[in-house]
Amino acid sequence: MSPLQDRNLLLGVTGGIAAYKSAELVRLLRRAGARVRVVMTGAAGRFITPMTLQALSGEPVRQELFDPAHEAAMGHIELARWADRILIAPASADFMARLAAGIADDLLSTICLATGSPVIVAPAMNQGMWRNPATRENAALLQRRGVVLWGPAEGEQACGEQGPGRMLEPADLLRRLERHLAGDGRFAGRHVLLTAGPTREALDPVRYLTNRSSGKMGYALAEAFLAEGAQVTLVSGPVALPPPAGAETIAVESALEMEQAVLDRVNRCDLFVACAAVADYRPRVVAGEKIKKRDETLGLELVRNPDILARVAALPAPPFTVGFAAETSDPVARAEEKRRRKGVDMIAANLVGAAEGGFERDDNALTVLWEGGHRELPLSGKRQLADRLVALIAERYEPGN
Ligand code: C5P
Repeated sequence: MSPLQDRNLLLGVTGGIAAYKSAELVRLLRRAGARVRVVMTGAAGRFITPMTLQALSGEPVRQELFDPAHEAAMGHIELARWADRILIAPASADFMARLAAGIADDLLSTICLATGSPVIVAPAMNQGMWRNPATRENAALLQRRGVVLWGPAEGEQACGEQGPGRMLEPADLLRRLERHLAGDGRFAGRHVLLTAGPTREALDPVRYLTNRSSGKMGYALAEAFLAEGAQVTLVSGPVALPPPAGAETIAVESALEMEQAVLDRVNRCDLFVACAAVADYRPRVVAGEKIKKRDETLGLELVRNPDILARVAALPAPPFTVGFAAETSDPVARAEEKRRRKGVDMIAANLVGAAEGGFERDDNALTVLWEGGHRELPLSGKRQLADRLVALIAERYEPGN
């Protein structure tokens, strides 16, 4: 399977004669299984028609920043988030200059400025323009900022000159993209399913039972897995966080909804990380009408919710499973007992409701346990902690890495 399979690729096409090669590139990307959306600059439209790229990508081609119909379908910020990678091919000298300057005066430059995903640039221009110190400095600046530069190649140019400035061939760009995506990170080519946040268990149409989970740890983990090249599906209870760029995020409310969303997708994943604070119980009946106050006391009958993590770990061919254990005391012993009882590969224990970290906080400390070993991950910001936990999961997932 190509590493491009099911990846979201935004192809930016800027003005240059090499734009005619973008059509072939779109065709190759689609054939490799990628989802492709094309954004063209105004100048690109003078070299290749949007219709051609639309037919080949199977998606509407975007050109305008202020296009109400398109913005309503998928706004430019959504597009910036949607893309796993942004490839600009061909990238003109002018576009590189605008990218280097952080200008956002059209759709493509705005998306590039807004995105959290890697941006790859395949320059194509006259050799004199490529050799000009202004372009050289812009290219160097972009690389320092983490923009990936592929090409240009040397050879005969459309203007009849010889020299550097030819866009790499579409087949070459495809090979590089595949290598980039495959070799990119410890979880490249792996699919990680995560749960995060609290659940809400309805009592009546306006009330629910929930807990103090902010979802921050789960969202930080999603970002850390994405940074290691994983394909991430995040099943999230209600939180006040933006969905991580590049992840597929599924919003759920109750434990039963979360369980269903997980079971629908678990067969496709290599790892399952249960970070959600799932309510252990839900009201036996959900009142159809708002519950009225009458008596001095009100009894609630609760029934057990399914244990999503234990259920996944007990599947005939389970993914590699990682759980969390938030405890108010004795976290390590309780987590170890939980790990064995639920049959999970790894469990991360933390104290909650104390000064050490946990719910609603930006930092946290964890003790991670597995069969025959454990490691302390000291107090740090949740994103840094997530990076460390992901590195540790990588060690255990493929021992000897
Ligand atoms: O049993 P406890 O709730 O302490 O276990 C915590 C771990 O189990 C977490 O990883 C949590 O996401 C998961 N869990 C679950 N479904 C539940 C309860 C907990 O997946 N119903």
